[in-house]
Formats: sequence, structure tokens, C-alpha cells
Amino acid sequence: MKIINTISELQRELQVERRHGHSIGFVPTMGALHNGHASLVTRSAHDNDVTVVSVFLNPTQFNDKRDLEKYPRTQEADCRLLSGLGTSIVFIPSVEEMYPEPDTRVFSYPPTDSVMEGAFRPGHFNGVCQIVSKLFDAVRPLRAYFGEKDFQQIAVIRRMVADLHYNIEIVPCPVVRESSGLALSSRNTLLTDHERDIAANIYRVLAASKAKVASSTVEQVRQSVIKEINGIEGLRVEYYSIVDGDTLADVHTWASAHHIVGCITVFCGKTPIRLIDHIKYF
Ligand code: PAJ
Repeated sequence: MKIINTISELQRELQVERRHGHSIGFVPTMGALHNGHASLVTRSAHDNDVTVVSVFLNPTQFNDKRDLEKYPRTQEADCRLLSGLGTSIVFIPSVEEMYPEPDTRVFSYPPTDSVMEGAFRPGHFNGVCQIVSKLFDAVRPLRAYFGEKDFQQIAVIRRMVADLHYNIEIVPCPVVRESSGLALSSRNTLLTDHERDIAANIYRVLAASKAKVASSTVEQVRQSVIKEINGIEGLRVEYYSIVDGDTLADVHTWASAHHIVGCITVFCGKTPIRLIDHIKYF
């Protein structure tokens, strides 16, 4: 496994691979890696000759400076984990390498990037598109792997790929969860053991709400999820939206879309830590 810090060295390395006809899979990450990330890397290593993993804590997607400051940084452990997963290249650039000058590009893919995380974290998806487009240009992969953990992020990336005519297959990968149901997240390490136990209720409530679909309206299910989670001490719902799984526009009846997904953001604990999750109804 090679560790590379500059775009020019990365491109030199990948040019050789391409000349050999090797397929390139790409997994973008912000580090603090866990088994959720590992599942993407394993999948890419299975599908491709070469797997590139980027580890870059992208400042432009953090609308909250404190969130960026407290984001866990575990570079040595990240490299140890990646070397055991079939990673060919870890790309760890500096901020100056990725942003030699401020990125003034504006990406706008409503409603996918304007609702939910887009509404509550203004500028977040613009920053995601800025960095992912730069990384796509540097790596030029055949396939790129994204976790459904960030359900909305995949929808936004798909729009960007179509808009900019990237010839890259976006491969969505299932959410990896703890046995309690809590979705693995780099931010989970910021939770106390007690808060982790409490946080497991998020997915429990979401999963249980599927049973209510047959007898309740969309709005009734939405309200009951919010009420139940807000009734648990230590949890506070920021939003719960039930949306078309492709466009991410709100749905009002269960018959209005092929894929219907409930997307939630919950604050957990005193700090508090912001956690996201989702459930597929159809
Ligand atoms: P990060 O939060 O590090 O996540 C990197 C990838 O791992 C994302 O595609 C995310 O959805 C996936 N992932 C995280 N937790 C997961 C889980 N429990 N199960 C399955 N996949 C999981 O997402 C980002 O970084 C950034 O926005 C990035 C795309 C790298 C751009 O900076």
C-alpha cells in the first residue's frame, strides 16, 4: 500500500495502472475510519484491480467550525486498517494541496441539495461537491463507492456526476450498524457509553415505524417518530422528513413514489453530537 500526498504523484502512479488496463475504484473518506468505511474499501478491492482511498478532512463542507475542530483525527490507525483491506493507494493531501486557492465554484442541485442536510447545514453539499469533483478529477476512477449512511449525499453526488458528465459509476453500499442498530459513524467516538446506548433508540424507532405504514398516513408516521424520539431523554430530533428516495422531495402519500425513505437527524447527549440515519419504507 502506497501513501501519497500530492496530486501529481497520484496521477503519475495511476497513469501507470491505466496503461496496464487496470480498473480503478475510489473510496473518498474524511478519516477516523471504522467498519462502515472498511465495507466500502473491501467492496472496491473486490470489484477493481486498484483501490484508491482518500483521507481528507474537507474544511469547505463544515458549516460549523467547532464540528470541524472536534472531528476525530486518527491517521495512523486509519492507515493500519486500510493496509489490511486490499487498499492500493491511500491519498492524504494537505488543505493547500486540494485548495491552492479558495474554491469559489457553486454547485446547486435542488431539491436534492437544498432540503434536509442542505437546509440545516447551509453550504455543506456545496463543499462536498467541491472536494468530490476535485478528487474525481485527480483519481479519474471507473467506480466510486459511497455509503448509504449518508443517503442524501449519494443523491447529490449522482446529480453532480450527471451534470458534469463524469464517466464514473457510483456504487451505493449498505449502512453498517452496531449490533444495537446504531449506524457506525466517526462521530460515535464522541459519545459516552451511556449516550451510545441512548442513540441506539434512533434506529429502533425508525425500524418500528415501518409497521405503522399500513394503518397511518405519511404525516402520522412522521409525527409519531418525532414524538417517540423526543420522548427519550438525551435525544432531540432536528428534522424527520419522509421523502422520494430519488429526488428527496417530501412525499405526502405512500403511493406517491417508488422509493420512500425517512431521513432523520437527531442531537444526542449534552455536547450534543449530531447523528443522522434513515429508513427505507418502500
Ligand atoms: P465520511 O463521513 O468519512 O464517509 C466516507 C464514506 O463512508 C461515505 O460514503 C459514507 O457514507 C461512508 N460511511 C460512513 N459510515 C458508514 C456506515 N456506517 N456504513 C456504510 N458506509 C458508511 O462522507 C464523507 O466522509 C465526505 O462527505 C466525503 C464524501 C469524503 C467528502 O469529503
